[in-house]
Amino acid sequence: MFPLKLMVFVALVSIVAAGPWGMICAGNPRNKIRGCDRHGCGHYKAPRINGLHLGVDVNCRDGSTVYAPFTGVIGGRVNPYKKNNAINNGLLLRGSGFCIHMFYIRPVRYSGRITKGQKIGVMLPMQRVYPGITSHVHVQNCNLSNPTGNL
Ligand SMILES: *[C@@H]1O[C@H](CO)[C@@H](O)[C@H](O)[C@H]1NC(C)=O
Ligand SMILES: [Zn+2]
Repeated sequence: MFPLKLMVFVALVSIVAAGPWGMICAGNPRNKIRGCDRHGCGHYKAPRINGLHLGVDVNCRDGSTVYAPFTGVIGGRVNPYKKNNAINNGLLLRGSGFCIHMFYIRPVRYSGRITKGQKIGVMLPMQRVYPGITSHVHVQNCNLSNPTGNL
């Protein structure tokens, strides 16, 4: 294959592979998923101390703006941990046939309508809690199914 044809092919595959959700975090327009670091891996069903990781970690630098991935409504606050820490916050979002939890963000609001691409919060200081981790927003479907294809 000629390099140009190869590039066109790769571009087309990338478009087809992109899911329906918009950019989740500023600086990560392709919703790149966390690889593996010394705290674990970011893909769906990655092993965790207490079972499996039933969400997906989307790379997001501490302090970055976080956007609504689809149009809908904010269903309220959801916390990832029982014991409080600096990143214990998040939102339940519903709409467009989706229901998700987004963890580790400081929300702008806890209710109301959202439009895809609208700012909904800011990435919390994950490095303070897990030094050396690839900072990320955790995205989890409410029914715990695999959200990767939507990213
Ligand atoms: C889980 O929810 C998604 C939408 O968020 C839906 O597409 C999927 O069919 C649901 N899966 C099950 C097993 O209910
Ligand atoms: Zn996660």
